[in-house]
Amino acid sequence: MKKIFCLVCVLCALTTLQARERQNFDAGWLFLLADSAQMSDADYQDSWWRRLDVPHDWAIEGDFYVSNPSGASGGALPGGVGWYRKHFSINQESITNNRFFLEFDGVYMNSTVYVNGQKAGFRPYGYSSFEYDITPYVHEGDNVVAVRVDNSDQPNSRWYSGCGIYRHVWLTKTHPIHVRHWGVFVHDGKVEVDYENPTRQKVTVKNMLLDADGKVVARSTGQSSYLSPLTSHLKKWSCEDPYIYKVRTQLIAGGKVVDEVETTTGFRDFRFDAKTGFWLNGQNFKLNGVCEHHDFGCLGAALHEDALHRKLLKLKAMGVNAIRSSHNPPAPELLNMCDTMGLIVMDESFDMWRRRKTQNDYARFFDEWHERDLTDLVVRDRNHPSVLMWSIGNEVLEQWSSAEADTLTLEQANLILNAGHDASTLAKDGELSVQSLLTQHLADIIKRYDTSRPITAGCNEPDPNNHLFKSGAIDLVGFNYHHQWVKDVPKNFPDKPFIFSESVSALQTRGYYLMPSDSIIVAPKEWWMPYTDPSYMCSAYDNMHASWSSTHEQTWDVVKHSPYVGGQFIWTGFDYIGEPTPYGFPARSSYFGIIDLAGFPKDSYYLYQSEWTQKPVLHLFPHWNWLPGQTVDMWCYYNHADEVELFINGKSQGVRTKDDHTYHVMWHVAYEPGEVRAVARKDGKVVREQTIRTAGQPDHIRLSVDYQGRDLCFVCADVVDQDGRLCPWAEDQISFSVDGDAQILATDNGCQTSMERFTSPQRRAFFGKCLVVVKGHGTLKAQSPMLKAARLVVK
Ligand code: GAL
Repeated sequence: MKKIFCLVCVLCALTTLQARERQNFDAGWLFLLADSAQMSDADYQDSWWRRLDVPHDWAIEGDFYVSNPSGASGGALPGGVGWYRKHFSINQESITNNRFFLEFDGVYMNSTVYVNGQKAGFRPYGYSSFEYDITPYVHEGDNVVAVRVDNSDQPNSRWYSGCGIYRHVWLTKTHPIHVRHWGVFVHDGKVEVDYENPTRQKVTVKNMLLDADGKVVARSTGQSSYLSPLTSHLKKWSCEDPYIYKVRTQLIAGGKVVDEVETTTGFRDFRFDAKTGFWLNGQNFKLNGVCEHHDFGCLGAALHEDALHRKLLKLKAMGVNAIRSSHNPPAPELLNMCDTMGLIVMDESFDMWRRRKTQNDYARFFDEWHERDLTDLVVRDRNHPSVLMWSIGNEVLEQWSSAEADTLTLEQANLILNAGHDASTLAKDGELSVQSLLTQHLADIIKRYDTSRPITAGCNEPDPNNHLFKSGAIDLVGFNYHHQWVKDVPKNFPDKPFIFSESVSALQTRGYYLMPSDSIIVAPKEWWMPYTDPSYMCSAYDNMHASWSSTHEQTWDVVKHSPYVGGQFIWTGFDYIGEPTPYGFPARSSYFGIIDLAGFPKDSYYLYQSEWTQKPVLHLFPHWNWLPGQTVDMWCYYNHADEVELFINGKSQGVRTKDDHTYHVMWHVAYEPGEVRAVARKDGKVVREQTIRTAGQPDHIRLSVDYQGRDLCFVCADVVDQDGRLCPWAEDQISFSVDGDAQILATDNGCQTSMERFTSPQRRAFFGKCLVVVKGHGTLKAQSPMLKAARLVVK
């Protein structure tokens, strides 16, 4: 009895004396878009500053101007210098014998952090996460942290970066004996713990492996120790069943648990094979991936978990199983969600090394900061089961002997990367260039911290004399575009596995169709030629792409039929702000997405759904509102059927079938008002049907919830006729308002040239649709002069 009592006491002691408190530090910041050296001072008078919570992006609140220094490539939104300040207090009990750390998941860019007027640190790269030990600067009572964010030297990016403290901030309090930042590494059944012990006390490290139900299934003791028993019965992490384990690490000193941290992990076997492509847990399948920039359209770069979740859900429903964090370290939340949603990640570090692509980009910091930034990326992300490869760079100019990067304009830098290069710019036989040595150096940095994942890079041609490949340090050959060259890969790299690190770059505007749809528009024809069209739109049939790229179907056909291709990362899943190829201003966001900037799928979404998922698909497009007698091309993506027959007002237009290399069926038809119907049959039986009817005059607004998150509700506003049919040409200006404690955060319509502010509560419908993002609870009202209004209760 006595023994049991003692044991209970020890357990109580072990569980009650932990010191670590990690607190979200997002709320209650003060902000000013201005710059003065005094703004770091502890006693600076800031009470008149704007109050806000981070994550925050000040650029998204601005107007589009051709003169904004980011240019159309950067989204034509403002930059500048902004300051954030936050007051917080620490009580006497806390200050005694504790350590304080301030952690930023990401600040774009050039952030300098001051605590009570003293500089805690500077970080130039806007995508790195970092932490400062602020113990020396804090005191009992009121404290103030001030952050200067400088995004004034532009352009510094080939896409929209956003400005400000755009990811989460955390304040952590620990015991002097504590696990260091990102100090737990779980690998090969082992847990390594990096901790600080400024005392002379003996410290015992204990780890517990917890299954998804919280049950302890293995343990280990020691700073670097194997979990035991680790049986083969552990559940595997996979895309279909992303099973997550946790490692709970405790530091015990003087019989007390003085620190405890939990680390997410998962178990999976994977490999890339030179002949057979990608394997996960013994299963061979393609990486059906997309590249994603970090912005959330009208919400800008500010991280909203709901916006991220909406994005990933839509991609997953399309059949996407992999994400490339192009071209920079992602938010930690992206990796957390990919872990739990079963999405594989290519974790990428840089878009440039020493040779710059834009005037003020990271190249100017590379020499001093690359080691720190790359190390931090790997050490931060190496426990994530979703991360299966590291990319050391995208299309870096070091691939070639001489790329005159410093003399290029932004547009040229964007385009030259895709133009192909002649053999004289590649490495000579037997030569190991500075560029190759740099490649080895970056790979070595990664291998110092993780040897379990292959290293790749997005390169521009599958030629072994490319300086990056020549280094021998690239485990997984990554190649961007030029699907017609992929057949050379097995000959050029007989023993190396291969993936399309980036592919497609088709150009599309949702709802806009250029006919004849079977003629392909290359825009621009050559990378150096301008492309103009007064519409500033691109065709949503899969019939438009840039000179270096392809239609969706062309690249997919190569990937699907080449067993050695491990998969692809399509450029891009969602449209993003900036890089409006093939146009310049007033275009200010991309045309590459399979889903538009507002989050509405373009038609190609259903091509992939029909190929990448088992979900039955029959997607007939475009709409059925044309000029009488006009020739219209009707396309249909489908699966699980042998044939599709098209009917116009009951008259058959013929039966169409696909073969193993075709991905849609098509009819040239003469338009007449009424209805068009696609009927899919399998073994002679009708399995699915879709009918589109001619819409009448715009009559009313229809509001529907597109995605309901924890904090944000994404509402779709459609302009419809009196029978509820979408009016595909409607452009009505819609005004949104809310009551209750709700707030309109942003609106969008997916139009690449809209000059309306993203934060405006008004938005013109674009091909019949627009989006409003609401925070909080209340009634949303949508009004337009010529339409009946609509209401929706947002919960
Ligand atoms: C690639 C580049 C991407 C994007 C894309 C547009 O070459 O890696 O960042 O610019 O072209 O097609």
